[in-house]
Amino acid sequence: MTPSPDRVRLHVVTGKGGSGKTTVATALAMALARDGRTVLLVEVEERQGLAQTLDTPPLGPVERRVADGPGGAALWALSVEARASLLEYLQQFYRLGRAGSVLEKVGAIDFATTIAPGVRDVLLIGKVFEATRRTSGRPHPKGTPEHYDAIVLDAPPTGRITRFLSVNEQVADLAKAGPIHSQAGAITTLLHSDQTRVHVVTLLEEMPVQETVDAVAELREAGLPVGAVVVNQARAALLDEPDEVALLALADGTIDVPAVADAVGSVGIDDPQRVAGSLLDTARGYRDRLDLEAAQYDLLEQLGLPLVLLPLLPDGIDGGALAELADLLAEELDPEPDEDAGQLDLPENGLAR
Ligand SMILES: Nc1ncnc2c1ncn2[C@@H]1O[C@H](COP(=O)(O)OP(=O)(O)OP(=O)(O)O)[C@@H](O)[C@H]1O
Ligand SMILES: [Mg+2]
Repeated sequence: MTPSPDRVRLHVVTGKGGSGKTTVATALAMALARDGRTVLLVEVEERQGLAQTLDTPPLGPVERRVADGPGGAALWALSVEARASLLEYLQQFYRLGRAGSVLEKVGAIDFATTIAPGVRDVLLIGKVFEATRRTSGRPHPKGTPEHYDAIVLDAPPTGRITRFLSVNEQVADLAKAGPIHSQAGAITTLLHSDQTRVHVVTLLEEMPVQETVDAVAELREAGLPVGAVVVNQARAALLDEPDEVALLALADGTIDVPAVADAVGSVGIDDPQRVAGSLLDTARGYRDRLDLEAAQYDLLEQLGLPLVLLPLLPDGIDGGALAELADLLAEELDPEPDEDAGQLDLPENGLAR
């Protein structure tokens, strides 16, 4: 079942590197930022992918409002950084205000955030968790929302996602009691609950589909709730239909190549044999790719998850393209949106304010 947007609070978007995680996470956040909702889009890889996609100045460790939506909806974005999160964490759990900077001087912060690998993930997820827990009245950075209706995480790639989301189980084992133990437990509970969905972005190609199948198996094994598989950059049939039929007929040998060479020659094109030959190669390549894509699609269907197809947009990803993808995702999430749901307003040349 497609998750109901009211129930799911945390959408985790993973996928093979370069498959479109950042693009899909952004479009999904825009899709959710309707009807007065306040939505937070978070990245954890410190790569400023969100800022690039949104065409906005670099994001920092405190969230910034990046776009306005219909009905007073708002989209906020944040780039979580391990060092800042650790200092915040020490402050929260040990009230280590100044001691935190001493630790920084002796290199302990570097140690914890770069050398001890699991610690980094604990900190990053901790920060995302904190955003899901925001309720009115709890302390939050000045000028930021008191509450988020939904959080979308541009997460690590498929190869690392299960370990990333499971790191708190180890923390809960290590810290037998106390605030860190209970926070780790609460994070684990959230991540395994109905409030979370892990969506996997893929392309219709062998490697990404294989990674998707493996990742879904791993996530399921770990008891993490898988949401939708998003097939990104799906090609609408490259050609108009009659051309496609002709091309496939050529590939199958239904149309005679010498006849094609004759036709090519009769309109005055040089070297008709060569042109007809390369047309035949194109036709076979096209047919092979369609066959391959169909086989990959079958593999994805066997996962028994909702499949969302997003088209390859020929002009790349700008505000209009994101809105188009957001509409398609919204249709999946919310099949009967309000008539006047409208679109998120992405100002030109950056969304910072
Ligand atoms: N549907 C689409 N149509 C056209 N271009 C797309 C589409 N989706 C993504 N792209 C482009 O593909 C590239 C990769 O997308 P994106 O950065 O979202 O992938 P990613 O999975 O986040 O990559 P990384 O693993 O490097 O973080 C970008 O240039 C993006 O603009
Ligand atoms: Mg990315």
